[in-house]
Amino acid sequence: MVAARKLEHQQTDLGYVPVYATGVVEQPWSDYTGTDHEVWDALFQRQRELLPGRACREFLDGVERFGLGAGGIPKFSDLNEVLAKATGWELVGVEGLLPDQVFFDHLANRRFPVTWWIRKPEQMDYLSEPDLFHDLFGHVPLLLNPVFADYMQAYGRGGMKAFAIGPEALARLTRLYWYTVEFGLIDTAEGLRIYGAGIVSSKGESIYCLDSPAPNRIGFDLERVMSTRYRIDTYQQTYFVIDDFAQLFDATRPDFTPIYARLAQRPALAARSVLESDRVFTRGTGEGWATDADM
Ligand SMILES: [Fe+2]
Repeated sequence: MVAARKLEHQQTDLGYVPVYATGVVEQPWSDYTGTDHEVWDALFQRQRELLPGRACREFLDGVERFGLGAGGIPKFSDLNEVLAKATGWELVGVEGLLPDQVFFDHLANRRFPVTWWIRKPEQMDYLSEPDLFHDLFGHVPLLLNPVFADYMQAYGRGGMKAFAIGPEALARLTRLYWYTVEFGLIDTAEGLRIYGAGIVSSKGESIYCLDSPAPNRIGFDLERVMSTRYRIDTYQQTYFVIDDFAQLFDATRPDFTPIYARLAQRPALAARSVLESDRVFTRGTGEGWATDADM
């Protein structure tokens, strides 16, 4: 496998993260090794068995419509044909995490950056940075859903604005992404289901987020979410539950500028906190939670 080209490290709201080349790269599909394809197949197979009855219908439909399977790493160009017709989004290959502004610009223009390299076999269960499996399997199926696709673009536009306002606004917007796009749950007639990419791409968290008595599960509220810190080193202490994707999109309709100003007056909440005003689905037992600082 061609080595990913890490350039430097940078302190961001997500912690100390590697920053890669910012350019778009052609997916070097013919350079993937047999092991790379086997890693995809094994991860895919594992989640395919686990997610029915756990992931939301829209996500599972997306996996189906793309024809994702255990036949090796998909070609971005094949997926782009399906995506272009469905919602006008396009996958672009990247080296890894992007600087905020570059990332927002992609989303605002309906381009989703996908890390081209995949984890090693010994990293099946945990990886500290997004790889192809997380980005592609986790994020891309929902881009076929028109409402979610619009939400992602609105988020990118909001990101450009927050970037111009300053780091505090950006931190609040990042919490929204974290608790929705990465770790969101959705309430359905059949019960709570997963839509967050950070969950569906993780075997352990796909089970924990629904089955464990430890975490809180709380109804989505924009300002509540933007006020809540999070952890990047453990499973979530709190999951926020949306009613449907329209609720998510509607929440991003207003200009966030006055919301940032208002939230600047309030202290941030710990990841574990439960408020009187919360719509509580489950109050967590807190079992196994780390007690040191959240992000
Ligand atoms: Fe992600």
